[in-house]
Amino acid sequence: MTKKLYISTYGCQMNVYDSARMADILSPLGYSLTQEPANADMAILNTCHIREKASEKTFSELGRLRNLRKAKEEKGKGDMLIAVAGCVAQAEGDEIMKRAPYVNMVFGPQSYHKLPEMLAEATRGAGQVLDTDFPVEPKFDHLPDEAIDTNLSAFLTVQEGCDKFCAFCVVPYTRGAEFSRTTADIISEAKRMIDGGTREITLLGQNVNAYHGLKDDGKSASLAELIYMLSELDGLQRLRYTTSHPLEMTEELCQAHRDVDILMPYLHLPVQAGSDKILEAMNRRHTGDEYRRIIEKLRKYRPDLALSGDFIVGFPGETDADFEDTLQLVRDVKYAQAYSFKYSPRPGTPAAGLADQMIPEEVKSERLARLQALLNEQQLEFNRTFEGKTIPVLLEREGKREGQLVGRSPYMQSVFVQSPAHRIGRIANIIVEEGNANSLRGRIDTGSAQDVA
Ligand code: SAH
Ligand code: SF4
Ligand code: F3S
Repeated sequence: MTKKLYISTYGCQMNVYDSARMADILSPLGYSLTQEPANADMAILNTCHIREKASEKTFSELGRLRNLRKAKEEKGKGDMLIAVAGCVAQAEGDEIMKRAPYVNMVFGPQSYHKLPEMLAEATRGAGQVLDTDFPVEPKFDHLPDEAIDTNLSAFLTVQEGCDKFCAFCVVPYTRGAEFSRTTADIISEAKRMIDGGTREITLLGQNVNAYHGLKDDGKSASLAELIYMLSELDGLQRLRYTTSHPLEMTEELCQAHRDVDILMPYLHLPVQAGSDKILEAMNRRHTGDEYRRIIEKLRKYRPDLALSGDFIVGFPGETDADFEDTLQLVRDVKYAQAYSFKYSPRPGTPAAGLADQMIPEEVKSERLARLQALLNEQQLEFNRTFEGKTIPVLLEREGKREGQLVGRSPYMQSVFVQSPAHRIGRIANIIVEEGNANSLRGRIDTGSAQDVA
């Protein structure tokens, strides 16, 4: 008998990858995925702890699941197991057990490969099961081999954890120390994905460019080396990686952007702030000018490289002048896209201890609005430069409108076209007709020979 599994995923792409692996692990136990929590036999919340708002969602979502479980039981449709996974589970496991005693299982990002055992324990009625250890044996050794992500564009975790300890960030505590998978492991997972139909792979890591996994010869490979290895795989058409730290943007990796044709001309390289004083207080370990020089070097090798970033406004001690430095850096770099956030104090992080330097909420809001206005302007400007150009677009899925397909440009833009569905999976040449704030609209270049990939 098949059982229904509902997974709700918050946070970063690593959580998306982890949720897919949890589904893989539970599939041999008879669980198949459902989008509908009401009838689920098991519900997993895969949580994010990065900012307070993200974290708070956990408890409101849990309340909702508890009601759905009650309703299901009352209808005589059996119980619903409730599990909390991810970074809130890691950081606040005990708290969750206390505040939500009806939760059956709580486990962190490094122990979900033990789901079958935890599930057995929970269904034996052994009470709540908590597992937030960082195991000696990495979970990747225990993930099922047959797991295949059949998405056209798929994530592949190559590195996990972070040793950088930026003063604001919980990730080093929730994901643990940096760990890199072996190249053999990654290549075999990539091959399985490609066999399953994947055409574009995004290599994932909290600090992906710090990757240093072992090769077959026992020496360690850099991310650039791994990219060269993967670029040899038949059938793989596009490669990306995220998220990178400026300190690890080596010469070799910058050159890969020139030399590897399937490496897409898009890079997410967070800088967080433009003021050297704030960068130092954040423990980012580089200056604004050092970041500018990295961008220059990258653009020398790959002039059309599109850049994306993350920004935090209102870090403790940020003055108006410091914030102006952030705006100036954004003007200098010119981003194709970016994410920006108000600083959110996180328990246990060094910056949370700077209570006397906290920035008032309204100042943060005002700065965020100004920064976002500038970033949006740059994004629109970037998208408009494509009007009239022809670009290769990986057509991924049907759009909301009749006869519409949605794809991705090399520069990560969403592209909307009118086209029959049989083109899904192809890389088609698209003539861009309109560059909008968040997407491009175009038509298939029917005279083009490339519409066969
Ligand atoms: N590993 C990545 C991303 C970490 S989390 C990196 O090194 O950049 C994603 C983004 O969330 C960060 O880049 C940062 O901009 C933001 N962020 C992290 N902690 C935050 C906090 N306490 N308050 C506000 N934003 C935060
Ligand atoms: Fe967090 Fe900094 Fe590590 Fe990124 S590099 S995950 S922001 S500690
Ligand atoms: Fe959130 Fe954890 Fe990712 S805190 S951003 S889910 S690493």
